[in-house]
Amino acid sequence: MKVLLVGSGGREHALAWKLSQAPSLDELHSAPGNPGIASLGQCHPVHAEDGEGLLHLAGALDADLVVVGPEAPLVAGVADQLRHAGVAVFGPSAEAARIEGSKTFAKDVMRDAEVPTAESLSIARAPCVIKADGLAAGKGVFICRDHKQLDSALLAAGAFGDSIVIEELLEGEEISVFALCDGARALALPVAQDFKRAEEGDEGPNTGGMGSYSPVPGFGPPEVEELLDTIHRPVLAELAERGTPFVGVLFAGLMITPEGPRVLEFNCRFGDPETQSLLPRLEGDFLAALAAAAAGDLSDVDLTVADRAAVTVVLAGGEYPASNDVGSPIEGIAEAEEEGALVFHAGTARKEDRFVTNGGRILNVTGIGDSVGDARELAYSACERISFPKMRYRKDIAAMTHV
Ligand code: AMP
Ligand code: GLY
Repeated sequence: MKVLLVGSGGREHALAWKLSQAPSLDELHSAPGNPGIASLGQCHPVHAEDGEGLLHLAGALDADLVVVGPEAPLVAGVADQLRHAGVAVFGPSAEAARIEGSKTFAKDVMRDAEVPTAESLSIARAPCVIKADGLAAGKGVFICRDHKQLDSALLAAGAFGDSIVIEELLEGEEISVFALCDGARALALPVAQDFKRAEEGDEGPNTGGMGSYSPVPGFGPPEVEELLDTIHRPVLAELAERGTPFVGVLFAGLMITPEGPRVLEFNCRFGDPETQSLLPRLEGDFLAALAAAAAGDLSDVDLTVADRAAVTVVLAGGEYPASNDVGSPIEGIAEAEEEGALVFHAGTARKEDRFVTNGGRILNVTGIGDSVGDARELAYSACERISFPKMRYRKDIAAMTHV
């Protein structure tokens, strides 16, 4: 198969890495891709949200499948544009992607599907959570434990320009639960945990994610099936009933509360950086699974999950998440790979014969091992090989006592 992968982050580099191992892959192309993806396939200078450009490129390449990584093109309707022209796409329609693109839509679907979620509140009074309604790259959520936090949250959330959602504040452990979906069926992927706050000890502002690991103790295959029965499958059925079946990855961000799992949010795509930790654990032909989902029939697909563990540490620019770092030279990627880690490019550029920073999250370093502890040790020793000015990473990814 010829595949066109849309996107340019660490998640897309990890997808490219996994796709490049698939027996059914003949050619890998990416738009726009990144310098890491360029070592696995051919990158084309077409923007991820340029539906016309992607349609033209898919035609010129005679692509058998387009895999869309990020949410913005999905919410903007890129998958529809391709599908209407007869191109097979892994990724939901704009209507189905509203499950991520609009928090009020997601709440409405969850209510009709009877899926447990944080209760919506009609007035903002601490403790509560304030959310901007539209897409905000994980940065539009404000936890308000007191008055002062609430006041600044209302100001900040208003700045996103959308209406706001007010929710009860839930406490518990958070997990990311992913399912490949063909419009009707949901196939479980490994559960991962993400570290969203910028600073160690879960302090500082929310980010897109500073690290991840998989497996998460207590969430093996039987527990995941139960979660899919409670959450993903009712949502799929509800979306299908509304005439907008969901094809792609349905990603539920859950809080495990003493009263049971509660949905914090849905995403319409793979998690970043969860994907970097879950793909190394998958066995089987990943491309064949994505193609089957895109074709609307996952019934014959069987992806097994290996016993090994993976830990991913995000190397970020000094000012992330407030601002990007551009043009700083990066050292030590090859040395980190020699240690045995995977190094995914998230925000880099090539300048002459070297890599430089070009974003907020710059690189993702993934260690694989028999246990989370082993994987973590490898990831961190590889991180020490890499440097760029003002590089910053959390030292406590996957450092829980129960792992
Ligand atoms: P979201 O973008 O909705 O996933 O929110 C980002 C992060 O904010 C989540 O991963 C949680 O850490 C936190 N969060 C969101 N909603 C709630 C809630 N109702 N109670 C507690 N924390 C929440
Ligand atoms: N890491 C969380 C996300 O991809 O939204």
